[in-house]
Amino acid sequence: MPITTCIFDAYGTLFDVSAAARDAAAEPGRDVLADRWQVLARDWRAKQLEYSWLRAVMGDHCSFWQVTQDGLDWALEANGLDGDADLRERLLALYWQLSAYPEVPDMLAALKLAGRHVAILSNGSPDMLAGAVDSAGVGDFLDAVLSVEDVGVFKPADAVYDMVGARFGCAKKEVLFVSSNGWDAAAASRYGFHTAWVNRADQPVDRVGGQPHHVLHDLTPIPGIADA
Ligand code: LAC
Repeated sequence: MPITTCIFDAYGTLFDVSAAARDAAAEPGRDVLADRWQVLARDWRAKQLEYSWLRAVMGDHCSFWQVTQDGLDWALEANGLDGDADLRERLLALYWQLSAYPEVPDMLAALKLAGRHVAILSNGSPDMLAGAVDSAGVGDFLDAVLSVEDVGVFKPADAVYDMVGARFGCAKKEVLFVSSNGWDAAAASRYGFHTAWVNRADQPVDRVGGQPHHVLHDLTPIPGIADA
């Protein structure tokens, strides 16, 4: 069945989630962060996701902005940086203006040129996503920005993936779902989407019931995969 609809995870897939810590570390007066921004970024992301899954399991949904702040507070404390209120504020501000990975604009433009529906499907809250789409300058390539806030549960709940068919009226097999999160790509495969996992960090495959159909190092091959 031909691919009519290409759906992208946002954070870590289109937008570089490490950029906030990396950019803050490059600012004057941030010597302590300069030493450990990579560990902080990794801890922050890990806790943000862990808290999203826990919230889903507990049936205690909150916004992605809340788990983003909670994850950062854990990571700052774990790295001995919790006394720096200015740093906390700066990192959170930078999260609203993450850069897109360099291949993103051309890749999205190629999908639109080929007449496909293109959208984001993300845990992000609508205002966070609007900020990131805006600062990355990719809004013109997107037909929709779908946020889990409309269903009140985080990925990988089926209710989130159901939003794609509800919005575009397409069958699962017509969807190419793209994520840099191994668990998201695996869950979307199990759900019935055709999937690509962007494994930028060369990680082992996640064992959560589904397998990605394609494993890539960046997003450049996506238009070709959608055509094949
Ligand atoms: C998202 C997170 C999971 O954008 O990366 O949904």
